[in-house]
Amino acid sequence: MTNLLHIDASVRSFLGEGEKHSSISKMLGHLFITDWKKQHPHDPITYRDLAEHTPNFISQDWLGAVFTPEEKRTEVHKMILSESDQYINEVAIADIILITTPMYNYGMPAALKAWFDQIIRINKTFTFDLARGDFPLAPIFSNKTLILLNSCGEFGFGDGEIREHMNHLGTHIKVLSHYLGVNQFFEIRSEYQEFGDQRHLDSLNAAKHQVRQLVVELSQDQSKAKLTA
Ligand SMILES: Cc1cc2nc3c(=O)[nH]c(=O)nc-3n(C[C@H](O)[C@H](O)[C@H](O)COP(=O)(O)O)c2cc1C
Repeated sequence: MTNLLHIDASVRSFLGEGEKHSSISKMLGHLFITDWKKQHPHDPITYRDLAEHTPNFISQDWLGAVFTPEEKRTEVHKMILSESDQYINEVAIADIILITTPMYNYGMPAALKAWFDQIIRINKTFTFDLARGDFPLAPIFSNKTLILLNSCGEFGFGDGEIREHMNHLGTHIKVLSHYLGVNQFFEIRSEYQEFGDQRHLDSLNAAKHQVRQLVVELSQDQSKAKLTA
């Protein structure tokens, strides 16, 4: 049984393949989930659309609640942290975290950043110990896989490409994924959306192919893991 957590972050909806103004990142996620369900019809999937239900930004009160020892937390502290607790519980039970997101201003949408800020929390998802020297943070969870499906309007954000230095999306999420207990990270990107030309179609088709391939590979890995268990 593989538990999958599916997070969508685009403010656009998925209106159907090829529809004008339809989200590309959500479409790639939809493709992944459709294929995944065929291979894993009984495995649980938790879904969140962060544009529809946007996480709250953390605040001074939130930090105050986090740094109040658990046994001293008031009902107000508990209420403030309930949203964070819920997101963390969903991450805790997930084997695979599927995040679909657009690139906004060369990084992730604010709603997705708000979700990470609610989740990466001391003594819940990471511990902090100065005995570890210059790297005092260590994740609590482990062995998770994160799949990042993203779409951008420009192009050349990959390793060694012309806009590599402007890519603060995949690079950022990869760094953060460590604190979610991720040790296997995949990124698939569709580019050129704003150009709307053949390069966009080629990039989109390549991304779709990679998504479908990834479902096959992950399913094979899982069958192998079952056989050796
Ligand atoms: C507010 C906003 C900011 C954007 N910023 C960038 C950007 O910095 N770089 C880029 O390549 N595309 C940018 N785009 C284009 C989107 O990444 C592109 O339209 C993508 O397909 C959106 O994802 P979606 O189709 O899943 O909604 C931006 C679009 C919007 C609406």
